[in-house]
Amino acid sequence: MLAAIDNAVPGIDADCGGQCVCATCHVYVDEHWSERLVPASQTEQWTLDGSVDLDPARSRLACQIVLTEALDGLTVTLPQSQR
Ligand code: FES
Repeated sequence: MLAAIDNAVPGIDADCGGQCVCATCHVYVDEHWSERLVPASQTEQWTLDGSVDLDPARSRLACQIVLTEALDGLTVTLPQSQR
C-alpha cells in the first residue's frame, strides 16, 4: 500500500492509513504469488468480507502485505470497482 501511495497509483486510497479497517487498498494478488504471502489475519479477512468485488482466492488488503525481497516482482491488479 505504501509503495502504491508513494507512486500515486490511482485506485489505492488507503483511507485508514493501513489500519486494516477501510478496504480502500483492496487488490487482487496473482494466484502464483498468493502462496508466498503471509496468510490474511482474521481482521484482514473481516475487512475484506465487506469489500465490493471480493475474490476469495485473490483478494488481499495491500496494507497488510509486507514487501520483502522474496516478493520482488509481485503483481497485483485492482478490482473493477476501484479502477
Ligand atoms: S489502508 Fe485501510 S484497509 Fe488498507
